[in-house]
Amino acid sequence: MKYAQRLGRITTAASFDMLARGKALEAQGRSIIHLGIGEPDFDTPAFVREAAKAALDQGFTHYGPAPGLPEFRRTIAETWRARRGIPCEAKHVVVCPGAKPVLFFAMLSLLEAGDEIIIPSPAFPNYGSMAQFAEGRVVTTPLLPGRGFDLDVDALRTRINPRTRAIVLNSPHNPTGAVLPEATLHAVRELVLQHDLSVIADDIYADMVYEGGYTSFASLPDMFERTVTVDGFSKTYAMTGWRLGFGLMTEPLAKHMATLMNNSNSCTATFVQKAGDAALKGPQAEVIAMVEEFRARRKLVVDGLNAIPGVSCFNPPGAFYAFPRVDAPGLTSAQLADRLLDEAGVVTLPGTGFGDGGEGYLRLSYANTQENLREGLRRIAAFLAGLPAAQRA
Ligand SMILES: Cc1ncc(COP(=O)(O)O)c(C=O)c1O
Repeated sequence: MKYAQRLGRITTAASFDMLARGKALEAQGRSIIHLGIGEPDFDTPAFVREAAKAALDQGFTHYGPAPGLPEFRRTIAETWRARRGIPCEAKHVVVCPGAKPVLFFAMLSLLEAGDEIIIPSPAFPNYGSMAQFAEGRVVTTPLLPGRGFDLDVDALRTRINPRTRAIVLNSPHNPTGAVLPEATLHAVRELVLQHDLSVIADDIYADMVYEGGYTSFASLPDMFERTVTVDGFSKTYAMTGWRLGFGLMTEPLAKHMATLMNNSNSCTATFVQKAGDAALKGPQAEVIAMVEEFRARRKLVVDGLNAIPGVSCFNPPGAFYAFPRVDAPGLTSAQLADRLLDEAGVVTLPGTGFGDGGEGYLRLSYANTQENLREGLRRIAAFLAGLPAAQRA
């Protein structure tokens, strides 16, 4: 069989490879602490699961409209107007099986071959992969570790040229946990207006903010018309396996995205949409409790990392990731993550799994029990202490 060349332009995220390697070692009887994969270790709230079961019994087992069930689109629009101040209505909502398809369709819809898209580095790796698959040209721009991984707006400005079509914003940020300050969002807004750009704003971690405020880019004046907001249920409602996300966008783009849905998935599973509708309308107590637990774990992990010689970790205001800088001279972050897995039994992700801007860093997901987090930290400290002096700070 002969394969299309475009397959060479798409890649799989390192997190799934590391998870598989960790699971394989576990299957051999090794004790492995998983700090790799980015999914809540909580169960989907019981009332959401019940809503899915009831929907199955009520016959929500058929095709539905490509952009989503009308009532669910309405619920999402009302909730996002209230929660994030985004001026959206049901016609602006497209429901997809996860946030990833929204990102993928946004890239396919915005980029002509050779168009440039600016992606801050480090970044969620799928952005670049999807943009390349869509024949876009990826231009990276740095985040500033010394300023809480804020976007370097001056550097961003220099990346813009007549081929620039879009900018990706992700706040709270994977892998750093940074939340973009409001002043930065306003500076990006100025550039967007000046150069007639579009923004893909990935807000998937927006309900996990532990300090400071949160502003959605699409809530800024005149930005809704220029932004595809990407969000979903995977993180906030611990629903990664259900595959439920959505995009908020202009009405014409929503129609195009519905056509892409029609051609690829037909629709998002209707009983899953009913569960999502219940999640938004029901009590939010479990979400709040989960976020409070993440807040406690964040402190445990960040304090624990900063207590290890040669490790320094920024206190991330959002998401559930820590992104420590680890001084292990002679080892790349990929080699360090490999050895932590093989020799210490801890799954972490190399910073370079998120682009060149991640060299020298590891990403740790604290979506694990406090007991496991303590054990993971103990193993990392012991491993680093055992490195030859030349490989320690
Ligand atoms: C920044 C970011 N965007 C999107 C996604 C994908 O979300 P979903 O599982 O809903 O497709 C993830 C998942 O890890 C993520 O970290």
